[in-house]
Amino acid sequence: MPLHIDVLTLFPRMLDGVLNESILGKGISAGHLSVKVHDLRAWTTDKHRTADDRPFGGGAGMVMKPDPVFAAMEQIQTPGCRRIYLTPDGVPLSPEIAEELSKQTHLVFLSGHYEGIDQRIRDCVIDQELSIGDYVLTNGTLAAAVVIDALSRFIPGVLGEEKSLTHESFTGKLLDFPQYTRPAEFRGMSVPEVLLSGNHGEIEKWRHAKRIEKTRQVRPDLYAKYQS
Ligand code: ADE
Repeated sequence: MPLHIDVLTLFPRMLDGVLNESILGKGISAGHLSVKVHDLRAWTTDKHRTADDRPFGGGAGMVMKPDPVFAAMEQIQTPGCRRIYLTPDGVPLSPEIAEELSKQTHLVFLSGHYEGIDQRIRDCVIDQELSIGDYVLTNGTLAAAVVIDALSRFIPGVLGEEKSLTHESFTGKLLDFPQYTRPAEFRGMSVPEVLLSGNHGEIEKWRHAKRIEKTRQVRPDLYAKYQS
């Protein structure tokens, strides 16, 4: 059964373009996965459609109320589905997590807003908390898009060429080598000779050396892991 993803957000339109474009959009059109975006305000019950309120104990900002989220989850969740909250204090997304999520049949993403969400939501209707990095977005909707994009690449058929999955950064924990295409000479800059040589052994050696050089410069943390 192809993976189905529901996204609960206060900003559903933020995902319009993301889900219709590029490889992800094609994967969805081709039926390799399906994504449905829900406006959380549909589950509010007051006339102002209130989804957030002031924090108990004081402090700045607003906190997402539990009642619309519980009602939405109770309607959308299915037995065995994974309910994921996007938050900067979650576990950092990794290729391993993206791949594991790609093997599920039903994911529900909850995008938080403002200062956060009522803790009872996290305690009762969330199974996993994910961060996409150590910076704070205005809400989790773009983070949900990032996780969906990253996991979609692990679904068979989404990347036309199976090769592109193995030939990239983070397989083997090294960053990628530089790529060139035609023309061989552009504004006085030429493509490294070895790439035009047709010598595949030399090309592989050059690419590996470039990956090591780049990783050492840009990501000493990955380089240290690679060496060990
Ligand atoms: N919401 C706000 N910032 C976020 C982040 N870095 N990762 C996931 N969700 C978020």
